[in-house]
Amino acid sequence: MSIVWTSEYAVGVPLIDQQHQELFRRINSLLQACNEGQGKEKVAEILNFLEEYVQVHFGSEEEVMIKYAYPEYLAHRKQHQHFVENFMDLKRKFEQEGAGIHLVVTTNKIVVDWLRNHILLTDTKLGAFLQGRIGQ
Ligand SMILES: [Fe+2]
Repeated sequence: MSIVWTSEYAVGVPLIDQQHQELFRRINSLLQACNEGQGKEKVAEILNFLEEYVQVHFGSEEEVMIKYAYPEYLAHRKQHQHFVENFMDLKRKFEQEGAGIHLVVTTNKIVVDWLRNHILLTDTKLGAFLQGRIGQ
């Protein structure tokens, strides 16, 4: 199973959409590496990249929310923080148990399902708010 970016995930802000696409790509690499048993080093490398990239990405969204005084900023940021906590749990699990099919299951639950829901319900709302505001 992989996570495929389609236009339903578009929030209408190019930077955010590009970052989501990059996240999807890296998450797929992670799932693939686990499924194919590509080894702990490879999986660690992808997890480290994701950990950093998620911070960059959430930072971009939060910056734009502050800039345009988005009324749902705090609730949105809380979701990001919650994800980061879960992601750190996933990393710990990997460090303790290594990569494998169990990590795929956890990744699907913690990363894939969360990201899908978050983009479709929360980021698209932000995108709609930003339409017509950005670039003015
Ligand atoms: Fe977000």
